Amino acid sequence: MTFLITAGPTREAIDPVRYISNRSSGKMGYAIAKAALDAGHKVTLISGPVNLAPPRNTKFISVLTSDEMFDAVHRHADTSDICVLCAAVADYKPAQVSPVKIKKCADGISLELIPTRDILQSLGERGDRKFLLVGFAAETDHLEANATEKLRRKNCDIIVANDVRVGMETDQNELVILFRDGEMKRISRAPKQFLACELVKIFLKFATKRFDKKDVMITERT
Ligand code: CTP
Repeated sequence: MTFLITAGPTREAIDPVRYISNRSSGKMGYAIAKAALDAGHKVTLISGPVNLAPPRNTKFISVLTSDEMFDAVHRHADTSDICVLCAAVADYKPAQVSPVKIKKCADGISLELIPTRDILQSLGERGDRKFLLVGFAAETDHLEANATEKLRRKNCDIIVANDVRVGMETDQNELVILFRDGEMKRISRAPKQFLACELVKIFLKFATKRFDKKDVMITERT
């Protein structure tokens, strides 16, 4: 099968030297890419700026902004069987990007921020999609309730939820996996590479079940 995986943060420019971003390390997305490759699948990895080398044999697409990530995902989604949107996309970007460096001002400044496009939701809204859609939910509180709400709102097949205080910038994580039929699985704290292998198995099983039901062929790796 062919996986499309997004990973890492995005950067939203304020001026030529400053940007808005977040602390995502990209480790979970890169671990899923490696696990899928190791299991013999094809991977397109669309990544924001991180300090990680892409796994060998990945089709690697490097992006900076949420708009670049949006375009890259939409270019490759329809040739994928499983889309895993793991990236920590910035929710807001400056309404205007200053072409010159903004000078320090004794009074302080205000930045007007506008929402970025939601990449996961834009795929979920597509009724014609032939790929399994997996989202992630990074939460600090009410993990299951927030993740369930995200699964419904973004119309995904699976949401993988984690508490950011456990998983952010570390090599370990613990996960709650929610399925669109209401099923739920938990994986207790473990290294991200182990979790990634478990997730890949779960995604493959669910994709096969879902697409077989609809009688749609899944491209098997030759
Ligand atoms: N996501 C996306 N595009 C965005 C924002 C989020 O594709 N502009 C995706 C992420 O890759 C992830 C999922 O949506 O798979 C949930 O991201 P998260 O940051 O947890 O949720 P938000 O929708 O941003 O909601 P909130 O920040 O309020 O929790």
